Amino acid sequence: MDRPKKRDVLRAVYSMSCLCENGEKKGGEGIRPVSSMCSMSKMTDEDLLSRLPHRPRLKLERKKSYDDMSLSLYDSAYSLDGRSGGWDTPLFSIKDSFDPNPMVTEAWEALRRSQVYFRGNPVGTIAACDPASEEVLNYDQVFVRDFVPSALAFLMKGEPEIVKNFLLKTLHIQGQEKRIDRFKLGDGAMPASFKVLHNPIKKTDTIIADFGESAIGRVAPVDSGFWWIILLRAYTKSTGDHSLAERPDCQKGMRLILSLCLAEGFDTFPTLLCADGCSMVDRRMGVYGYPIEIQALFFMALRSALSMLKHDSEGKEFMDKIVKRLHALSFHMRSYFWLDLQQLNDIYRYKTEEYSHTAVNKFNVIPESIPDWIFDFMPLRGGYFVGNVGPAHMDFRWFALGNCIAILSSLATPEQSNAIMDLIESRWEELVGEMPLKICYPAMDSHEWRIVTGCDPKNTRWSYHNGGSWPVLLWLLTAASIKVGRPQIARRAIDLAEARLLKDGWPEYYDGKSGRFIGKQARKFQTWSTAGYLVAKMMMDDPTHVGMISMEEEKHMKPPLRRSSSWT
Ligand code: GLC
Repeated sequence: MDRPKKRDVLRAVYSMSCLCENGEKKGGEGIRPVSSMCSMSKMTDEDLLSRLPHRPRLKLERKKSYDDMSLSLYDSAYSLDGRSGGWDTPLFSIKDSFDPNPMVTEAWEALRRSQVYFRGNPVGTIAACDPASEEVLNYDQVFVRDFVPSALAFLMKGEPEIVKNFLLKTLHIQGQEKRIDRFKLGDGAMPASFKVLHNPIKKTDTIIADFGESAIGRVAPVDSGFWWIILLRAYTKSTGDHSLAERPDCQKGMRLILSLCLAEGFDTFPTLLCADGCSMVDRRMGVYGYPIEIQALFFMALRSALSMLKHDSEGKEFMDKIVKRLHALSFHMRSYFWLDLQQLNDIYRYKTEEYSHTAVNKFNVIPESIPDWIFDFMPLRGGYFVGNVGPAHMDFRWFALGNCIAILSSLATPEQSNAIMDLIESRWEELVGEMPLKICYPAMDSHEWRIVTGCDPKNTRWSYHNGGSWPVLLWLLTAASIKVGRPQIARRAIDLAEARLLKDGWPEYYDGKSGRFIGKQARKFQTWSTAGYLVAKMMMDDPTHVGMISMEEEKHMKPPLRRSSSWT
């Protein structure tokens, strides 16, 4: 008998978790044959989330975790080699997931210590609480992007209050007038971060926000508004409380963000034109133009907004625009940002200077601009969305966040999602190494580093944003690998993180080609490193949590069949 394919095994594992969660077939009796079980890729996020409100908040009755099931099922599949039976009657070893790993307990303590209060109510988490750090800079602030994994952890724990407070507080901040020198920013701009000032004498709390006017390099946080919308959806999905998203101020906040990114301009592409430093990579790193990190978040935010906007006249106007944009954006991204061996070969053989509607090399990418590293890096199986595509410009670098968000939002087709996971598996040394996960690959060095980063001493090769390894990205990798039905990838990454994170004091990032060294200027007790770990653990324990942050493919967005072998 042929061994069952590993991926099929793990898809089936997810299906079983559906059954257990469903409550229909608990206790291991009567597991349906693999072929008749729901597969993750066929499930809608509604299917996943419909189970959430029924989940007891205290989790008194726990279903088997992914770990328990994948291991036991995988083992049983292999031990059944050459024997009859097998798939219809898998064996489970039931392990009580009540005894929390001491690292989980420590992470929760650190996360709770990082909570920031405004007039007695928790409104967010501080970016880092490193007592040894000499320079605080703005790490004592609540960053919108940094709060996302904290928020997910609180939602998964059944503590939504802090998330609701955060959403309302940042919404209020959005309503303030925002200026940089004499220039007034758009009404929809969301802050990068905010700080609560306590006056112990007057016993008052006030908030100061930063929209980029104080940030190093005066960078605009384009991602903040997108994360805000995505988090509003996660809150709604997790709690089943639609009243927050339906509030007129939340509807208005969403519309203001959308007005900024859906405004008509001189664009020739549906992607969003951005300056350097506009997202998690908030320093000059050559991501200006159409960075994948922003395009993927943009796509996810548009889809999230579409599900939450009211069908009144103002809402409908935006919904129409969103539908058109999503259609064009998914086509553009899936066609022009996607790279695999075949596509690379096509670009390698591109003709240039084509003038016409029928041009094959639409952006006039000059083959000589293809970097050498990509020819060895690209595996036979696998592919990814490249960092940037614009006129005569293709940034071939791999960016982790954008690719994981592409999977979670279904910007990537199921085939592309699997191809991204194939790439991660076959380029594990490069992309994960000893600490998950490289923020981008590869690093820039020498002349390129000087020109592209402006000689940034914090972004030297394999450090910080320039190929550094960021533990926070673990939650994204975990969510994406669960969505694709390949949680063993996440398991491997979590094991690596568990070997070091607590011992090293939850660093912000690691340096080195394999992520071996605590980052030169990394903060310790970086909140999103702890929160990211917790979210990854909770999703492995209960994969239905992924539904908060994942979306199934819309059938009307299916791309035309075309060139790439890894996604057709
Ligand atoms: C650094 C990171 C940024 C993060 C901030 C707070 O500036 O580059 O992504 O939001 O620290 O942790």
